[in-house]
Amino acid sequence: MPRVFDKIDSKDIALWGNHTVKLQHNLGESELFSDESLANIVESIDPKHIDITTMGEDVSTWGHVDRAGQPGASVLEAVRGGRVWINLQAIEQVDPRFKDLLDQMYGELEGTLPDFKTFKRKLGMLISSPTARVFYHFDVPGQALWQIRGRKRIWIYPPTEPFLPSTEVENVVRSLAMEDLSYEPWYDDYAEVYDLEPGQMLHWALNGPHRVSNLDGFSVSLTTEHWTSEIRRSYAMHYGNGILRNAAHLNPKSRSLDGPMFWAKVGLTAAWRKSGMDAKQGYQRKLTYKIDPSAPLGVVPLDESEQKQAARLGG
Ligand SMILES: [Fe+2]
Repeated sequence: MPRVFDKIDSKDIALWGNHTVKLQHNLGESELFSDESLANIVESIDPKHIDITTMGEDVSTWGHVDRAGQPGASVLEAVRGGRVWINLQAIEQVDPRFKDLLDQMYGELEGTLPDFKTFKRKLGMLISSPTARVFYHFDVPGQALWQIRGRKRIWIYPPTEPFLPSTEVENVVRSLAMEDLSYEPWYDDYAEVYDLEPGQMLHWALNGPHRVSNLDGFSVSLTTEHWTSEIRRSYAMHYGNGILRNAAHLNPKSRSLDGPMFWAKVGLTAAWRKSGMDAKQGYQRKLTYKIDPSAPLGVVPLDESEQKQAARLGG
């Protein structure tokens, strides 16, 4: 496989993990991202791993979309002309070439960045309309966004209060809430803004809240997710703080990833999960639209009986 990165500078190495790093990659040329390949992935991926959404123009409203048995090419047509965002998860399981790509990406990063050792890596793909967007949210694991086709603008905000309230992280880590965060327009004064072109990849500080607007063209991006031992410790810290706050009615302030208080939280988290006290409430997608390439937005609302049927079929 050809190299993913031509070079990673010492500046990027120094910034990695704590600040935003933009790197050039060589993935754009690959046959893996042709229309035919994309249509094939849409059709062959496990339905649990495809999440299609549509969204309002300005306000933070969005809904899940049923593929409704449409062939991959028709889904792409709806994306091209409509306002649709497709999130394909774990595509390394769809085609071994994506597994090889994921290994190559992290192999090069781990070979260059000192002390960067990852596990539980995942590769996702985003296929989205020229006007599609994703509202303000954060993600739990380490992550990067790789632009392949089209252009995207991304706003990245500091991973601290008030942009990222501790209670929100704790609830998401404990699966009590989705990753959406409340947003204020003035937050933008504190954002880093990047226009991502094909051939560019962005990695930012852990849990950094972000939002995305496509700029022009049919957009194809990859997302990578990974864990490191430090990310796992951060997860345990938030989980432990969440238990202390909700169950013990304390107001934990420490975000330390070491020391007796931290390890007490790790023990608390393990005991809590073992006791079955964690909610274990998997999030169920409610489908309220279906793909329709002939509709102006590429989707039409489902009526009530169609919604019930889609829920039965699980999308
Ligand atoms: Fe995200």
